[in-house]
Amino acid sequence: MILIDGKKTSADIKNEIAARVAEIKAEGGKTPHLAAVLVGSDGASQTYVGAKVKACEEVGFQSTLVRLDSDISEAELLKVVEDINNNPDIDGLIVQLPLPKHISVDKVTNKIKPEKDVDGFTPANVGRMTLNWPAYVAATPYGIVELLKRYNIETSGKHCVVIGRSHIVGSPMSILMARNGYPGNATVTLTHSKTQNLAEICRTADILIVAIGKPEFVTADMVKPGAVVIDVGIHRIDDPSKKSGFRLIGDVKFDEVAPLASAITPVPGGVGPMTIAALLYNTLQSAEKKVF
Ligand code: GUN
Repeated sequence: MILIDGKKTSADIKNEIAARVAEIKAEGGKTPHLAAVLVGSDGASQTYVGAKVKACEEVGFQSTLVRLDSDISEAELLKVVEDINNNPDIDGLIVQLPLPKHISVDKVTNKIKPEKDVDGFTPANVGRMTLNWPAYVAATPYGIVELLKRYNIETSGKHCVVIGRSHIVGSPMSILMARNGYPGNATVTLTHSKTQNLAEICRTADILIVAIGKPEFVTADMVKPGAVVIDVGIHRIDDPSKKSGFRLIGDVKFDEVAPLASAITPVPGGVGPMTIAALLYNTLQSAEKKVF
């Protein structure tokens, strides 16, 4: 069984990006610049945005964090996005989600200039990805694609079962696995909450990608021996035996599934660490005008 190490792979990608940034700077080029907009004081969002800003520093990017009160109006937020869209020094723009209830996520997302949409959330980038055009691919699907590539996992002709049809993970993942290319050329089944005989379908998967958001949902009886298992879930479970008082688990019951799998991502240290690498990679692509 191969343990797919997202932590190491993410560090490798960050090193590659840092090396390229050093080259750009040595050539007198502009430092890549990411702007992150954070509305309100949600604890998890602050942690995520903090990690993104820190990662920018690590690879030599410039970053700007725009903090806004949770009572900002939608119109004011749209104006902030527009100003960043029009700022030629900024290559990438993310608006951290979730947003307060009085603001339309769709309106704000759609305001982001596709050329700076390094989260890959705009309709333009989702459409481009679907058409197999150059596109910014969202962080989690990008991270999974990169893990499959760097671990040389064969996907052509394989049966790939995706559990979960969210806009940011399951749906794009199903498109990426089915498209003509590598990774891709798989026969894909996209399953969701209305799917019947889910366990039976999962048992036919050569590659099982689990993004259902339920702790330890996938058990050994749902996995074919030799399958590749990608676990996107992450859940905090109280554990008084830990110093922190909690531990992290995924959507897959790792201890019983891992011995069956030919390769598997752990939680933590699998897909999670790859998402920041994806954001940095997309920002570098934008700075180098590689997508648009
Ligand atoms: N909230 C949770 N994940 C993400 C992400 O990848 N991007 C943004 N903008 N917000 C998030």
